[in-house]
Amino acid sequence: MDLNKIQNLKNQALSNIIEAKTKEELEEIRISFLGRKGEITNLLKEVPKLDIEERKETGKFINEVKKVIEEGIKRQIKSLSKEKEKEEEKWFDVSIPGKKLRFGHLHPLTLASDEIRNIFRKIGFKQVSYPEIEWDWYAFEGLNMPKNHFARDEWETFFIKDLKNKKYGEAVLTPHTSSGQLREMKKNKPPIRMLNIAKCYRRQIDASHVPMFYQFETLVIDKGVNITHLKGTLDYFVKEYFGKAVKTRIRPFHFQFTEPSFEVDISCLVCGGKGCKICKEGWLEIGGAGMVHPQVLKNGGVDPEEYTGFASGFGLERVLMMKYGIDDIRLLFNNDFRFLNQF
Ligand code: DAH
Repeated sequence: MDLNKIQNLKNQALSNIIEAKTKEELEEIRISFLGRKGEITNLLKEVPKLDIEERKETGKFINEVKKVIEEGIKRQIKSLSKEKEKEEEKWFDVSIPGKKLRFGHLHPLTLASDEIRNIFRKIGFKQVSYPEIEWDWYAFEGLNMPKNHFARDEWETFFIKDLKNKKYGEAVLTPHTSSGQLREMKKNKPPIRMLNIAKCYRRQIDASHVPMFYQFETLVIDKGVNITHLKGTLDYFVKEYFGKAVKTRIRPFHFQFTEPSFEVDISCLVCGGKGCKICKEGWLEIGGAGMVHPQVLKNGGVDPEEYTGFASGFGLERVLMMKYGIDDIRLLFNNDFRFLNQF
């Protein structure tokens, strides 16, 4: 058999393939060379008639040619579809309105936390961060709440199984940011102006409570600190955060770790203090505060004869909800864009 003829067939097939503009044309080429009655197929049918030596060589050559043609067709199919894609990409209608990029923003709680940090920074408070998994001593015992004391009930604590410290007791998820008071005193010598904004955990869930929430705690310790400093600082914060017209009031209360202790109220944001459906008597409670108990100072390694201090603890969600009139805390954690987009 004439090998040149085979070579010519191969060249012809390849040049047809390169010229082909559509998949249909390529299919026709495949049939005419490799189909049941195709030229290459016909040649292969002749091979068994050849004598042994020629049969081997020719058979091998024809099979190689067959492969080359098959691959050529495949390659051309690929490059045709790429060209089509490019063709489609090239088409560009300048009159179509552009796609608007969607810009996200920080979560309202992050925004509130930043805002509060900036308010306190202006009067010299430094933001700190302490462990979310805390020892019992820092969360309770060191704050005058010994084991089995009923005052602990209010804190509805999550305990961590099988994790204990010989000196500091069981491990808990911090139920309030007040544990940061002891951490701060042990870490830094007075004067102290601490702002601790952190996640807290309690076993509770309803329209105004969730198991994970935020508090922000202030602690000021220096020589001669008294209640007027507490009141002035809280009043400054309230005016900066809620507005200049909003008034602050402190009301006697009891906490184990402060003496005296107060609850802090602000004049109602809806009625301005006259009394309405929401506030009843014109005031809304925003958190707790007090003069740091001498025993707590001692527990933190501060001499109560030399220093005094005040502390306060507020719910971050609570102040945010009051400012914007949000009536369900769970809205802050549902990640519903219809809600979040309003901030
Ligand atoms: N830790 C208290 C709570 O979670 C709030 C609190 C009350 C913080 C009085 C204080 C304080 O610093 O002095 O309910």
